[in-house]
Amino acid sequence: MINRETILECIKGPMEHYHQKMNNTIGDWKPLIGVSEKLLAGKEVKDDELPSVLLPLVEMMSLIMQITKESEWDWSNPAIQEAYKHLAESHLYKNFAAATVGIVSSIIRTVKIGTIVEVGTGPGQVTASLCEKMTKHNITTPLVISDKSPSISHTGENLRKSFPHLKINDFVWDLRENPPSEMIEKLTRPVLLFERFCIPYGGYDAIDSIGPIADILIMIEDLNLTGKKEAYDIIYEKIGAQFFTYREAKEHLEKHFSFIYTCDRKTIEALNFPVTDFTLAIK
Ligand SMILES: C[S@@+](CC[C@H](N)C(=O)[O-])C[C@H]1O[C@@H](n2cnc3c(N)ncnc32)[C@H](O)[C@@H]1O
Repeated sequence: MINRETILECIKGPMEHYHQKMNNTIGDWKPLIGVSEKLLAGKEVKDDELPSVLLPLVEMMSLIMQITKESEWDWSNPAIQEAYKHLAESHLYKNFAAATVGIVSSIIRTVKIGTIVEVGTGPGQVTASLCEKMTKHNITTPLVISDKSPSISHTGENLRKSFPHLKINDFVWDLRENPPSEMIEKLTRPVLLFERFCIPYGGYDAIDSIGPIADILIMIEDLNLTGKKEAYDIIYEKIGAQFFTYREAKEHLEKHFSFIYTCDRKTIEALNFPVTDFTLAIK
């Protein structure tokens, strides 16, 4: 049985750090709505229309608009992977990554976890940062990474090369399907499953795919709190990310977890965010 209070204690420090950074850098996120409306309408956006910390999002949305005009979005495409890597190196994404890694590493240092699972690993920047933290704290909990893209084997190879003392297995897993049985065989409970910016590409059913194998879930996703779909949501729909509301995601989570918690409430209230980004669920 996982002790909720212990887990809540583990997330406190990383979420406070995240809050301070968001509060100090973002200021007003609302211009993002107008800017995304312009991008959707094919208009030009100038750099001074947004706080600079949000500019990488404009770059990504412009790329989505440009690529999807001519072809399908394919995460395996090296040019797209390169562009995403660049976005993941931005201050904003690094802040999401630091909080994610902070939470996961705090939990695995405090609670006995059998296997850590990451879904939608992509190029693996969050994973590499977690491996660095595990190395620093001498933790060797086995890690299973996965993605629907076959390039996950390349990500796995790179991570194993950089962190040879860690046990890292990689699997192709499309979250619209059940987990591969060879992957299930590698899992020891309790399983801590985390993900960043992947589940809406699989739809709400993806929550039902991961629910049965996760004892603790850390979900880093924009879950809409207002019910209003904005232009940036429509842009991301072009690459297959479904518009996710907190209300509906919670209904799916409740089928598998007895405790669901919004970790970033303080930031949502202070910055009047239309989304929650950090959801914790425990069996
Ligand atoms: C926005 S990237 C996020 C990558 C990484 N989690 C990060 O935060 O840097 C989305 C990732 O989700 C993966 N993905 C998209 N649809 C998926 C699905 N149905 N099942 C599993 N992974 C999927 C993509 O291949 C891509 O690597």
